[in-house]
Amino acid sequence: MGLFSKIFSNTRKPEGFWGRMMVNGMNGGSHAAMANWGLDLGNVPDEGEILDIGCGGGANLRRLMERSPRGKVTGVDYSTVSVDKSRKFNRKAIAEGRCKVVEASVAALPLADETFSMATAFETIYFWPEIESSFAEVLRVLRPGGRFLIVNEDDGLSGTNEKWEKIIDGMHTYTPDEVKSHLTAAGFRDITIHRDRSRHWLAVTAVK
Ligand SMILES: C[S@@+](CC[C@H](N)C(=O)[O-])C[C@H]1O[C@@H](n2cnc3c(N)ncnc32)[C@H](O)[C@@H]1O
Repeated sequence: MGLFSKIFSNTRKPEGFWGRMMVNGMNGGSHAAMANWGLDLGNVPDEGEILDIGCGGGANLRRLMERSPRGKVTGVDYSTVSVDKSRKFNRKAIAEGRCKVVEASVAALPLADETFSMATAFETIYFWPEIESSFAEVLRVLRPGGRFLIVNEDDGLSGTNEKWEKIIDGMHTYTPDEVKSHLTAAGFRDITIHRDRSRHWLAVTAVK
């Protein structure tokens, strides 16, 4: 694997030095505009339990808390580097009991059935294993009527996605139709596709 691939594979699972650099970058400015665009569409509830899967450096956990004044957030990530950074970034909220961060894969969430009013996934479903089983796992932990928000910086139609799929082993950039079809197969309803066509951003909302 070349150095370029090695560095960018840390977006799939941050590890070691380059992983720490990558996670610091995820919390920087470039992801903020897209995250806020998605959150505006996601209708974050004022209260209740909210889950952010593939939480990376934890910036979206903080954004979710800002938008849900009486809510509590849980971050999940299968990378130790991401979990450590998310915990440091949100240490005050963790101390106050508003936030926790769990190291686990979306494939087997160590979380009880029907717990969350909302689940979010920013820039992460590209890397999830067996996508329909992963979506079914999200469905399991959502409460009836709970919402799932997916936000991707690449809608699979940008023309640059194939380049990234070659660079980052195991990455798949889903098109809007693919996301909708996998969510439907997993049991979600009321699926809505939102696109920023000029920037090729994709947000998808779905209901349990
Ligand atoms: C590109 S980063 C995005 C981080 C954050 N959501 C953001 O938007 O800044 C992708 C994250 O998803 C995590 N991830 C990938 N596959 C995962 C899986 N199967 N289960 C849990 N986390 C996963 C990675 O470890 C990484 O932290």
